[in-house]
Amino acid sequence: MKTILVTGGTGYIGSHTVVELQSKGYEVIIADNLANSSADVVDRIEKITGIRPVFIKADLSKEQEAAAIFDTHHIDGIINFAAYKAVGESCEKPIEYYQNNLQIALNMLANMKRMGIQYFVQSSSCTVYGEPKHNPINEDCPTMPATSPYGNTKQMVEEILHFVTKSGDIKAIALRYFNPIGAHHTALIGELPNGIPNNLIPYITQTAAGLRQQLTVFGNDYPTPDGTCIRDYIHVVDLAKAHVVAMDRCFENRNKSNLEYFNIGTGNGFSVLDIIRSFEKVSGVKLNYCFGKRREGDVVQIWADTTLAEKELGWKAELSLDQMTLSAWHWQQQLQ
Ligand code: UD1
Repeated sequence: MKTILVTGGTGYIGSHTVVELQSKGYEVIIADNLANSSADVVDRIEKITGIRPVFIKADLSKEQEAAAIFDTHHIDGIINFAAYKAVGESCEKPIEYYQNNLQIALNMLANMKRMGIQYFVQSSSCTVYGEPKHNPINEDCPTMPATSPYGNTKQMVEEILHFVTKSGDIKAIALRYFNPIGAHHTALIGELPNGIPNNLIPYITQTAAGLRQQLTVFGNDYPTPDGTCIRDYIHVVDLAKAHVVAMDRCFENRNKSNLEYFNIGTGNGFSVLDIIRSFEKVSGVKLNYCFGKRREGDVVQIWADTTLAEKELGWKAELSLDQMTLSAWHWQQQLQ
């Protein structure tokens, strides 16, 4: 049985990934500083899987705190979620974003070298592509200059991995997520945004629940069929499963190069209005929304070519848009 260190494992994507890892027989150690999550997620994971993951509260950007984990636990592989992730905030606090996100990745890699740990899966993002010239976009498309420090840290970690994996003693897989939404079907874990949500789905569910007055759709004059932006929304449980197959690939020695990149999306583009319609249908709630100005930095449209992930990882997203919006709604309802 292999043991995986999941950094940021009490967070939104991390917690879903811990559940999927455990259900496939992996042992999990979660390390998280709880800056943007809560310790009771560990109880909730145990409720779902019947197995309590080891939980270590630690600030992994601190060299000593990171090293102590490796000194006291056997670890076979790492999935690295721990990072600050708010695009807007990253523009206000760029240095904090670089310090935190890069230092965590570097500390993990330094300890991997020190302990002879071979496998690293990095939480990356489709934001590395910028505004694509064509869709769907595949992994060969060149990355574009980042539009935020957050996006830049995702690119920089990929670049660090490029050189760190050269010697071959560390093998890494960067999963480039499109737009993760939804929650576990038990509604025991999900996304817990701090304060006013920036992202579309929590804003929709909070508006429907009466916590926000109205959703503003950022722009309806884009060159898309209905004028609103298009994204590739993916169920967080499908996304979590992609991490498990990436880890399996490593332990089965199927990596084709020391650093591999995979798009993790559904391959379908949906507009903001498609999301609203799906939400209204599955929830039976009429959403109060209006059209507003475009949001600075938004790409017009992007969706994934997932051919490589299907072929190499044997992974394909399975859950529909309605399943995504319904699970997000169930999660919101149990929060109240
Ligand atoms: C952003 C980041 C992405 C990050 C993700 C999750 C960029 C380019 N992308 O994705 O890297 O992984 O957040 O943190 O920075 N919308 C509204 N009204 C709202 C909120 C959103 O109309 O109140 C629209 C947006 O204009 C966009 C779509 O909904 O078209 C999705 O927005 P959002 O959920 O914020 O995700 P992204 O911006 O795509």
